Amino acid sequence: MKADKILKNFNQIFCPIDNGIPLRGEQMNDAIIIENGYIAIKDGKILAVDKGGPNEDLISENTEVIDYSGKIATPGLIDCHTHLVYGGSREHEFAQKLNGVAYLDILAQGGGILSTVKATRQASFEELYDKSASLLDKMLIHGVTTVEAKSGYGLNWETEEKQLQVVKKLNEKHTIDLVSTFMGAHAIPEEYRGRSDEFIDLIITEMLPKIKEENLAEFCDIFCEKGVFTAEESFKLLSAAKKLGFKLRIHADEIASIGGVDVAAQLGAVSAEHLMMITNEGIRKLSEAHVIGNLLPATTFSLMEDTYAPAKKMIENGMAITLTTDSNPGSCPTANLQFIMQLGCFMQKLTPIQVFNAVTINAAYSVCKADTIGSFDSGKIADIAIFDAPNIDFPLYFFATNLVTEVYKRGNLVISERQYNV
Ligand code: NIG
Ligand code: FE
Repeated sequence: MKADKILKNFNQIFCPIDNGIPLRGEQMNDAIIIENGYIAIKDGKILAVDKGGPNEDLISENTEVIDYSGKIATPGLIDCHTHLVYGGSREHEFAQKLNGVAYLDILAQGGGILSTVKATRQASFEELYDKSASLLDKMLIHGVTTVEAKSGYGLNWETEEKQLQVVKKLNEKHTIDLVSTFMGAHAIPEEYRGRSDEFIDLIITEMLPKIKEENLAEFCDIFCEKGVFTAEESFKLLSAAKKLGFKLRIHADEIASIGGVDVAAQLGAVSAEHLMMITNEGIRKLSEAHVIGNLLPATTFSLMEDTYAPAKKMIENGMAITLTTDSNPGSCPTANLQFIMQLGCFMQKLTPIQVFNAVTINAAYSVCKADTIGSFDSGKIADIAIFDAPNIDFPLYFFATNLVTEVYKRGNLVISERQYNV
């Protein structure tokens, strides 16, 4: 078969190994790194990836051949945990943070997530759409081609639905593909203060069925945290969501370890998020239950905490992990997944291969899309990030600088020489 496009002369091509399940434990140390290779694309999909000059059988007079000497290629990066859609911003809380006021104390005073809830309720659909599209543009320029996006700044039907409709429209219109998660249980709204059980019931009886009916989300998530939702409430909500056919995630062990990990293991969640405070016992449970650990080291950085999720220990104990931004206006205002990858090395001591596996194939499993993205197996969608780097170690060592120069989405060049080409 002839290729439409051949991208050739890469110094290295990072090829994750897709075994049909997430890479766990020691498997995260493995990948195929092709030296001096090419990628052939046909109809927006991967046709072939190999070393050396392109096979003549792949080339016709219509094949476009592009030289990427001096650069490396990886599958398009996947940001599998974001709070993408929100109104306003929270730089006004930055001074409080710098003065040592704790994240949960800001929330308890009606700020934090609740201040973003106010701004998101007030924002129009169009305002939210434009703001989120602009954030996605920034992610794309950093090499990200798929993003998971959560609701959770509405905490009432009207605004949760508005957020999810924004995600749906962005998925149709924006270059980046989106995976939608309903997170109505992100905080206890002011009007339900002291009545979290009633709020959980409202979500179960009124919101979840409508979201299912309108097909507005694939996953359901909850913030299981001290002063927010208990493990019992999390179990109740996620069990109901599971019965309705939602896949599950849970924010667990972020600030305090209160049982969210057990809920994830018991209910067979696809992933548990954050896990900064996870215990050895918790790691064992997630490992046995095959729950993916979605780790968000820039949240630790942005919260100015010292404790990073014990990523290495998780891998040593057989877990599959991903790295992801948590992009949100409070605990992690960023669009740069590369910085998170660098923190994975600098602060969690992961290796470059583990990091690239975390943001490609494992992240693809975390959004349940590994049949189409996350590796260069032929037939998968040709989502490709190209870095101005001589080898795959370089983008992790040379930090806080965007090294992505080109991005292909479904075989189309959407970022060219660091500029939007769409
Ligand atoms: O994942 N932990 C809960 N939710 C977000 C923070 C959202 C916010 O502060 O606006 C997180 O860190
Ligand atoms: Fe989060």
